[in-house]
Amino acid sequence: MTKTLFSIAAISALAVAVVAAQRGGGDAAAAPAPSGPNYPAWAYAITPPPPPGAPRPPAPPEDTSVHHIAGTTRAFTIAQVVDLRGPADWFPEDHPAMPSIVAVGRQPAVRSCSYCHYPNGKGRSSNGGVAGLPVSYIVQTLNDFKNGLRKPGDPRKVNVNQMITFAKNLTPEEMQSAAEYFSSTPWTQWIRVVEAKTIPKTEAEGSIFFKEKGAGVEPIGMRVIETPEDDEQTEPLRNPRSGFIAYVPPGAVKKGEALVTTGGNGKTVACTTCHGADLRGNGPVPGIAGRSPSYLARQMYDIQVGARHGEWAELMKPVVAKLTNEDMVYITAYVSSRPMPPAPGSKLQQQSASNR
Ligand code: HEC
Ligand code: HEC
Repeated sequence: MTKTLFSIAAISALAVAVVAAQRGGGDAAAAPAPSGPNYPAWAYAITPPPPPGAPRPPAPPEDTSVHHIAGTTRAFTIAQVVDLRGPADWFPEDHPAMPSIVAVGRQPAVRSCSYCHYPNGKGRSSNGGVAGLPVSYIVQTLNDFKNGLRKPGDPRKVNVNQMITFAKNLTPEEMQSAAEYFSSTPWTQWIRVVEAKTIPKTEAEGSIFFKEKGAGVEPIGMRVIETPEDDEQTEPLRNPRSGFIAYVPPGAVKKGEALVTTGGNGKTVACTTCHGADLRGNGPVPGIAGRSPSYLARQMYDIQVGARHGEWAELMKPVVAKLTNEDMVYITAYVSSRPMPPAPGSKLQQQSASNR
């Protein structure tokens, strides 16, 4: 009986996967969306599937022109910027020399880490920042991906599944050299938290919220919306000095501060106990201050639903057990708003200087 049920489920899952593959798969993947009051949909930024029978939008004409960005005389075509085997390195002066697994990957099994996480390890809200994490933590979490202990809490998040494939194909030496490299690049200011009741209307593409041109504004609701400071600098240009704005509901930072520093009367556990007084990490425990709120909330939800359950994630279980979406909004608003040293040459450096 159980066996029959299982195979029926397996066959229908397969059928759905085939249909998704025929449609081009992508973010509108086959698995159902998680539901319930705790699921932070904003953190996963999944593109809704197109209405049935909708025509596919025509592919934009290929852009073969050479592009420039502020602060460098280097210039690249889009094909060079998005080369999976070694993307454009706009600012080699911003980071140490990359080991080859980070710079160019090992084809065809492992894409260059710098393609998604950027050469400086800052990453985008769709993946996450790896700069400045402890070496031991990076190696351990890569092994968790490899050993099936770290999966996305929303199975539709396709790029985490890609990350898992890369981890499975990495040798221990490659893991170590990538870990040493990313750990040596410091985490600096990358996210600007802004409290706002209404925010630019956005749409999710490739798990990033881009501004919908000419669409006006919408209420923020109980969400954090992380969007590039400048959409074009992030996509397609992948400018590693152009960070993100995180819009959060009015009052969220203060409410988050109470939860993070006191645990909120048993709702959670004070984060400072393990992540350090400044939340920038403590020994093998990773830093969380000033990092992507979408990334942080995904991890809390992934751990809550047991999709991320490595040995060290055990320590986080009581922390996240009772958290609702609302709590995650407040907590990430505060944690991401923690000031970090500005990155040299960054737009953010100039903005934060003039805001003070
Ligand atoms: C296709 C894009 C992509 C590439 C290429 C990629 N990653 Fe990732 N990486 C991700 C995503 C997505 C996540 C998980 C984000 C999440 O859980 O929501 C991730 C997470 C990580 C984490 C966990 C960070 C943390 O704070 O726990 C590490 C470490 C990491 N990647 C290292 C690497 C290394 C090393 C390489 C190169 C061998 C690499 N990645 C290549 C997309 C990518
Ligand atoms: C008892 C110690 C402890 C406390 C308290 C704690 N954490 Fe953690 N946290 C950890 C450990 C250890 C890890 C690494 C988990 C792993 O390797 O899977 C972690 C990982 C995380 C991660 C994932 C980091 C990454 O790069 O993927 C996030 C996000 C996080 N914690 C947020 C918080 C927040 C927010 C609080 C407070 C509300 C908190 N933690 C309280 C020990 C703790």
